[in-house]
Amino acid sequence: MSEGGTLPQTFAVVLAAGKGTRMKSNRAKVLHTLCGVPMVNYVIEALKPLAPERLLVVVGHQAELVEAVLPQDAETVLQREQLGTGDAVGVALEALGGEEEGVLLVVNGDGPLISERTLEELVERHRSAGVGATVLVAELDDPSGLGRVVEDAGVVRIVEERDATEDELGIRLVNLGLYAFKLSEIRDAVGRVARENSQGELYLTDVLEIIGRRSRAVTYRLKNLEEANLVNDRSQLARAEEILRRRILDAHMRDGVTVRDPDSTHIEASVEIGRDTVILPGTFLRGATMIGSDCVIGPSADLLDTVVADGARVEHSVGRGAEVGERAAVGPYAFLRPGTVLGPDAKVGAYCEVKNTRVGRGSKVPHLSYVGDAQIGEDANLGAGTITANYDGVNKNRTTIGDGAFTGVNTNLIAPVTIGEDSYTGAGSVINKDVPPGKLAVGAPARAIRESPQRRRKRMQEGDEKGQSRTERED
Ligand code: UD1
Ligand code: CA
Repeated sequence: MSEGGTLPQTFAVVLAAGKGTRMKSNRAKVLHTLCGVPMVNYVIEALKPLAPERLLVVVGHQAELVEAVLPQDAETVLQREQLGTGDAVGVALEALGGEEEGVLLVVNGDGPLISERTLEELVERHRSAGVGATVLVAELDDPSGLGRVVEDAGVVRIVEERDATEDELGIRLVNLGLYAFKLSEIRDAVGRVARENSQGELYLTDVLEIIGRRSRAVTYRLKNLEEANLVNDRSQLARAEEILRRRILDAHMRDGVTVRDPDSTHIEASVEIGRDTVILPGTFLRGATMIGSDCVIGPSADLLDTVVADGARVEHSVGRGAEVGERAAVGPYAFLRPGTVLGPDAKVGAYCEVKNTRVGRGSKVPHLSYVGDAQIGEDANLGAGTITANYDGVNKNRTTIGDGAFTGVNTNLIAPVTIGEDSYTGAGSVINKDVPPGKLAVGAPARAIRESPQRRRKRMQEGDEKGQSRTERED
């Protein structure tokens, strides 16, 4: 309750129950995303800084799906039948029970560019004017599809395009679907509206006219016309998304990220990027993707929910739920699937697919490999065409590759299988039994035959270091 100099309490209602017929979609309009975020969430984010007493979202069409994308602190109210924007507000008012004092802020769920500042100014204008209702309006070059506004001596009348006369259609002042009401006034007026219009709906705009006649209504003009990009169809969706996409890119550039070609770079709102990272053309960064500093990403990187550490490079590659370690190199043309974790200085090169696999520090999978459900130690090297046969048609089996192991070209690792530390496989070998540490294995199926070359070298080096004279041993 207001007292002394404190402001009257504010309640906020987001209208999100409609189908959005003009989207020609099987999905509710407010669920369509812009830069990865459902439309309705933009409106809610803009409302939050106003710290409303309660934040209600009226849901109806695909209510459960809409509810699922809403933040925790939004309360949903179900409008069973979509009988119009006036009815939707009526449903919200029921949920607000005995509240009689304060301001009711009503926002259509399809204005993703509306800013917090505009909402604040609208409420401010409403309070200082001391009127029953205030509506956000703008004068647009192309007013088509929107309600036309006629303001006259404290009464604001809005005519929907489909109900408008020829003269009214010429009006360029439009209703942007954002209103502040005196709570007591709207409670009273919402029950008095008739459904006398071409759609047989209860129009919130008619409520506005009723309130105007009783306790005056005024308009508030939008300052930044960019925010007037409401979304009713797919081309408006693309236009609004383009503005948001540019805003996201500008924010990254201000924070020290180089974006070589903003026209072809798509970064979702949720993505984080460190400074001095360079994003090259044709790159898509989406979901929970996080990029460190001093990375080079792209050209044509497509990363979803992928974490890339400082100094790494990802070129012409796809990442899905992967982690790329510091200074690691990916691509060109690599596919990192969920559960892939590349250690520092690791490399996954051309035409390699890696899934649910840890690649240890400094290890390399440079060419034409499939590695799934594997654990690769440090400083191992997989020869071109090394494949893990991880799936036997029933189970997924694991492959373990020890530190310093080396596989020859076209090695087939038939999982479950382990090749030990410093083991070595011959070209074309088929490994269906564990290779002990330090052994060279060849053949199909391969058998361990003698000491591996790197072990031999190491042993020899160790020998040299000890400064001992060696007798060559016949194997
Ligand atoms: C409405 C306004 C119009 C304004 C335009 C701005 C009315 C009658 N007209 O028209 O003057 O220019 O918004 O965008 O209000 N909704 C519900 N329940 C319903 C119907 C709609 O929750 O029963 C929600 C929709 O999900 C949407 C919002 O209300 O988020 C607006 O509905 P929509 O059908 O898009 O209204 P418009 O015809 O565009
Ligand atoms: Ca609309």
